[in-house]
Amino acid sequence: MMPSVQVEVRFRPSGRTVRVARGTTLLEAARVAGLPAARACGGDLLCGKCACTLESPGAAEAAGAAERRTLARNRVDPGKRLACAVRLEGDLEASAPGW
Ligand code: FES
Repeated sequence: MMPSVQVEVRFRPSGRTVRVARGTTLLEAARVAGLPAARACGGDLLCGKCACTLESPGAAEAAGAAERRTLARNRVDPGKRLACAVRLEGDLEASAPGW
């Protein structure tokens, strides 16, 4: 069996770092790191509570239409991302209050 490819996620401001399988969501990585991960909708791209800032945006796909709609509907800064929508494709640094 091929080993899964791991990516490294660094959270700010805590500086906590975890390694998770590529394709894991950023929200799940925060949970693995033991950091608070607000998810009123359970990660269904509805509540906007998991908004965060990607410090290295090139390591994730751009926001899709559903994510952009949720950001707008919840009046979240459109420059932010929803952690439940970000699938980790490479090493990444992200920040949010409490991270
Ligand atoms: S957890 Fe609700 S939008 Fe991400």
